[in-house]
Amino acid sequence: MNIALNTQPNAPKGNVPKVLQSQEMEGGDFLSDVISGLRADRKSLPCKYLYDAAGSKIFEQICELKDYYLTRTEAHIFAENLPEIARTLGANVTLVEPGAGNCEKAEPLLSVMESPAAYIPIDISPEILHAAESRLQAALPSLPIQAVVGDFTAPITWEPNRLGNRRVIFFPGSTIGNFSCEQAERLLADFASWLSPGDGLLLGVDLVKDSVVLERAYHDDEHVTEAFNKNLLRRINRELNGNFDMDGFSHRAFYHPLRQRVEMHLVSLKSQQVTVAGVQFQFEEGETIHTENSHKYTQEGLTKLLARTGFTPCRHWTDNNNHFAIYYAEIT
Ligand code: AVJ
Repeated sequence: MNIALNTQPNAPKGNVPKVLQSQEMEGGDFLSDVISGLRADRKSLPCKYLYDAAGSKIFEQICELKDYYLTRTEAHIFAENLPEIARTLGANVTLVEPGAGNCEKAEPLLSVMESPAAYIPIDISPEILHAAESRLQAALPSLPIQAVVGDFTAPITWEPNRLGNRRVIFFPGSTIGNFSCEQAERLLADFASWLSPGDGLLLGVDLVKDSVVLERAYHDDEHVTEAFNKNLLRRINRELNGNFDMDGFSHRAFYHPLRQRVEMHLVSLKSQQVTVAGVQFQFEEGETIHTENSHKYTQEGLTKLLARTGFTPCRHWTDNNNHFAIYYAEIT
């Protein structure tokens, strides 16, 4: 994907192109990822495919769950520290949000930031992004918004003309947790490459904690997380002509202390065959498809990761239980 972002923060407001479509969206990626993921000895599927329109809606329900503390805790930290966070970011900043989704986290921040130059939400789901964009534009009419439909993990080429405005990448919600250690390092290094010295990163991360608290957050009694996980199979059935038996798989989530992550799997409840786009796959009873990782960080581990990728942590904010942290770091 190659997105040329023509950010002209000093241009008259309203002059910002509304939507940039990535030049090579999808086009068979889903199919080839599913085939290679299910062919592997240890079956797995890339977690980004969980977030289609239906999946993103179910994820919003997850955020409302009593035991899913992440969203609530992060929102609380923001609410408590908003003026200070905005002051730390500075004035005339272009806020870039990879994986922005419904843009609900950026709104309170943008409304207290000092004359933000522009807001650039990037998301893979056009439906969610465009709905969010109209809502946000109505709430903040003078803010130039430039929505980008695309996969932020694919290379993005920035228009070099920055007209002196600072950029801050906003990456809340512990989305970083979805990435393995190596992937997270590559992602932050990519982010660093979008930035110049003095630019910043505002990052929300879920912290290592008691495993009971962690596992409850990913295995709720209302089966919402199960529906979220199984939506991937439904999506494969619908989009790739699959025949997954929805009752033939169950949801499993557990914390792996050495890997410092919650793993989410779909467990085959019987020996069965599944066909996707004419290709057949054998599942043994108890065999799993690994569908998502949610890595947890220690403050020490995060500081090291930031340093390795060119960022210097400037400030951070946490809740009283130290469940979640928001870090602000800058390129030096
Ligand atoms: C969107 C990656 C932050 O890992 O907590 C929630 C996704 N998966 N429940 C997380 C998720 C199952 C969530 N993130």
